Parts: sequence; C-alpha cells; structure tokens
Amino acid sequence: MNKLADVQRLKQASGTAAPDEERSAGAAAVNEDRPIGATAPKLGQLPGAALSQDGLRPPPAEEPFYSPTRDEVALFEHCHENRLAVMLKGPTGCGKTRFVEHMAWKLQRPLITVSCHDDLSASDLIGRYLIKHDSVKWQDGPLTTAVRQGAICYLDEIVEARQDTIVVLHSLTDHRRTLTIDKTGEVLEAAPGFQMVISYNPGYQRMLKDLKPSTRQRFVALDFDFPAPERETAIVVQEGGISQIDAETLVALANKLRAFQDRGLAEAPSTRLLVATAQLMRRGIDIKRACQVALVSPLSDDAGLLDAMNDLLDLTFA
Ligand SMILES: Nc1ncnc2c1ncn2[C@@H]1O[C@H](COP(=O)(O)OP(=O)(O)OP(=O)(O)O)[C@@H](O)[C@H]1O
Ligand SMILES: [Mg+2]
Repeated sequence: MNKLADVQRLKQASGTAAPDEERSAGAAAVNEDRPIGATAPKLGQLPGAALSQDGLRPPPAEEPFYSPTRDEVALFEHCHENRLAVMLKGPTGCGKTRFVEHMAWKLQRPLITVSCHDDLSASDLIGRYLIKHDSVKWQDGPLTTAVRQGAICYLDEIVEARQDTIVVLHSLTDHRRTLTIDKTGEVLEAAPGFQMVISYNPGYQRMLKDLKPSTRQRFVALDFDFPAPERETAIVVQEGGISQIDAETLVALANKLRAFQDRGLAEAPSTRLLVATAQLMRRGIDIKRACQVALVSPLSDDAGLLDAMNDLLDLTFA
C-alpha cells in the first residue's frame, strides 16, 4: 500500500480536508479494520515528520520558589535516580505543581504537563497521524515527546482520565520503561531522565474514579497538605508581596476558615487563595474586601456557610 492511498483512506474516514488543512486523522478512523498504523510510514521516514516539541518546557533558568514541607525534595531526587514514578496526593492549591516545577529546575529536566479530563484519550497522550496536503504525518503526543526527550511528564488530576487512557502508563512505570505505539509499530525505551509524575486530590475522589491497585502500586506516593503557619506566612510574604504582619493575619484567618470543614465546607481555603488575597492587598485593596472576594467567596455557594464565614471576617477586622 502506498502513502497516497493511505492519505485517501484517511481523508475518507475523517471527512475530506481542504487542501491546506492539517488535522488529526482521529483515533477512531485510524483504528478501523484496516489500521493505518500497519501500513503507514514510520516516524522519520516521512519528509517533515520532525519530532514535536509541543508542550515541552525546558528547565527554567531561575529557581522556582518552593518551600518544602519535609523530605519531599530528597525523596523525589532518589526516585528520579532510581527511575521510580511518583504520585503527589493533596488538596488543591497546596504546592504540588510548584513542587514539580522546582524539581524540574533542580534536576535540569524539561517538563511536560497534561491536565487530565474525561475525554483524554490514549491518542491524546501518545500521538496520532495528521493529514497535511497529500501526505500523512505522525505527530507525537506529550507522553511520547517526554519519553523520547527524557523529560518529566506530569499528569495533573490523573483520576479524571479514563482507565483505558491510564493503562498506557503501565509499561512506562515498571521495570520495562517502554511505550508501545500501536499505530506506528514502535516500542520506545524511555530516554534517561524520563520520569512519570501524577497528581490528584483525594478529596475529590469518587469511588468510580478511584485508581486501580495495579496503577497505584506503580508509584511512590508523596503526601501534600497546607504548610504549617510560619511556613505558609513566609510563602504568602514571598508570593504575595505583603508585610509579615499582614501575612500572619491572613494565615491565622485561613486556619479558622479551614475549621469550617467540620461544618460542611467541602474544600478548605488553599495557599493559592491566600496568595491571591495578598496580591489584591498589594494593589491597594482593603484587607477585609480582599478576603471577601479572594478567600471566602470562592469557597462555597451555600448561603449559610458564606454568612458564617463573613461573620468571622467582621469579627477579625472589626
Ligand atoms: N510549598 C510552596 N512553596 C511555594 N509556593 C507555594 C507552596 N505551596 C503553595 N504555593 C503557592 O500556591 C500556589 C498554588 O500552588 P500549586 O499550583 O502548586 O497548587 P497545586 O497543589 O498544584 O493545586 P491543584 O491541585 O489545584 O493543581 C502557587 O502558585 C504558589 O504561589
Ligand atoms: Mg496543580
């Protein structure tokens, strides 16, 4: 089967493309009875099939500020050295993404981040054929790019992804460290430096969306939580650019608001919200108003809870 015939077949399967249009052949079309992967040219054999660099972020020149909780930096370094995949567990806005950015800088590895969702398919991660003019071009997905480049691949909110998507990680997160690309027939060995990192918020977890044991047990798990008051104050000073005394006030308030979880508040106010509040204050917004809009209001739509939390603001800033 020649290349032009493949193109015709792909165009029929995915609708006729305009001459200049470049678009995905689509997983469904490619996986028909006559899989294009069996006959299509291999990566590197097609003119212009350059490796995609999409989404690949080189390590930042400057150290991303990260204040550690305990031994997570050293543990991550050991995992990296021993080629162990890492799972970060913790509530929203507690520093998971910042930690990965910091580690990418420290280990001098490029970083690829993917936000997982219901519709994320294995092809979105691995790659797909694209039709361009009269040729077919293979486009690496972010996972494949990370495997080839020896990058850190960070899959955020992994529990949102479907099982058939998550399962492609299995051969990469055990002793094999390989990625099979069915459509091209390739079996890639992960380049040195490749590391898989996933994260999720156990609070959001629903039974149906729990990770399978066969997935969980491929990862070293690092637990994250909100920092102790002195450390959180230092983060708010650094990231929000406000005074120590104002930061202490915000952190003390946040810890009182966190206690509202016992009264039905689903998610505690995060360090991220504290930083946002501080940033408004730095722009001249009054502290109480900044707390109303950036610290309290995002937390809930429940009128009773909002009233109670706003009463606390009134008391704090009387
Ligand atoms: N330990 C920390 N060191 C430095 N900054 C932090 C730390 N924890 C939180 N922050 C601040 O809080 C913000 C939010 O953190 P981050 O984006 O890493 O949260 P996350 O845990 O990835 O949240 P999500 O689960 O919603 O993605 C950061 O941009 C940073 O300003
Ligand atoms: Mg994050």
